[in-house]
Amino acid sequence: KKPLNIVKMKKMKENKEPITMLTAYDYPSAVLAEEAGVDMILVGDSLGNAVLGYNSTIPVTIDDMVYHSRAVARGAQSTFIVTDMPFMTYHGGIDETLKGVRRIMQEGHAHAVKLEGGAEIADTVRAVVKAGVPVLGHIGLTPQSVNQIGGFRVQGKDAADAKRLLEDAKALEEAGAFAIVLELVTEAVAEAISNELSIPTIGIGAGRGTDGQVLVFHDVLQYASPYMPKRFVKTYADVGTIIRDSIGNYVQDVKNKSFPAEEHVFTAEDGVVESLYG
Ligand code: KIV
Ligand code: NA
Repeated sequence: KKPLNIVKMKKMKENKEPITMLTAYDYPSAVLAEEAGVDMILVGDSLGNAVLGYNSTIPVTIDDMVYHSRAVARGAQSTFIVTDMPFMTYHGGIDETLKGVRRIMQEGHAHAVKLEGGAEIADTVRAVVKAGVPVLGHIGLTPQSVNQIGGFRVQGKDAADAKRLLEDAKALEEAGAFAIVLELVTEAVAEAISNELSIPTIGIGAGRGTDGQVLVFHDVLQYASPYMPKRFVKTYADVGTIIRDSIGNYVQDVKNKSFPAEEHVFTAEDGVVESLYG
């Protein structure tokens, strides 16, 4: 399978074919996301919550993003991978921003980066695009600014806010972003923005009018996700319960000496053992 690219993505919008995106943070999640056929994988800084146990994305570093991104890239070699630039790594000088972007691309093996913010970061987006790196925008609820926004509030609720979001979206398109994530935006405003832009919009908690959807891996699967349930998430499995019960069964088996059993035991006749860890 050939990975999606930003030209095909725009065609998908024109053809009204929804674009699917899911986060992944490590090798197995990337393998499974690719096998399931997602169009794009996001190595989101939501990994701070989902796999590192922080209560926001603010502590996440470039090193964290590079480390997880390259594991994802090993697992999903035929999928377009976008990796988040984390908190405060694209607000200093452009040289410093480009150094971080270089690491995400060259060491993290991503195909594109995602930056949170609107018109105020348009010049930065322009400079990154000029360096040959595709940029995914992200407006609406931007978790890296949660302390400034004052909580996880739905965006675009009044006319002034809707106007600001549309202007931000246009500024990002004009700066060269290939698509824009709309997070926690009213359905009406997200649809209006999607209709205004020629680049695709990817929604999360933004209703039915966007050109694509993105969700967090651990939310979709109820995999010990710290912030469940979320209204805008649809969960497709309860993997957390499966894992907890399975580990519980292993613990029980050892305690009651039913594991290891006859078939798990070596004798002097055994030779080379197959191992995943070779
Ligand atoms: O980090 C992330 O997972 C994201 C998505 C929620 C869009 O930015
Ligand atoms: Na993010």
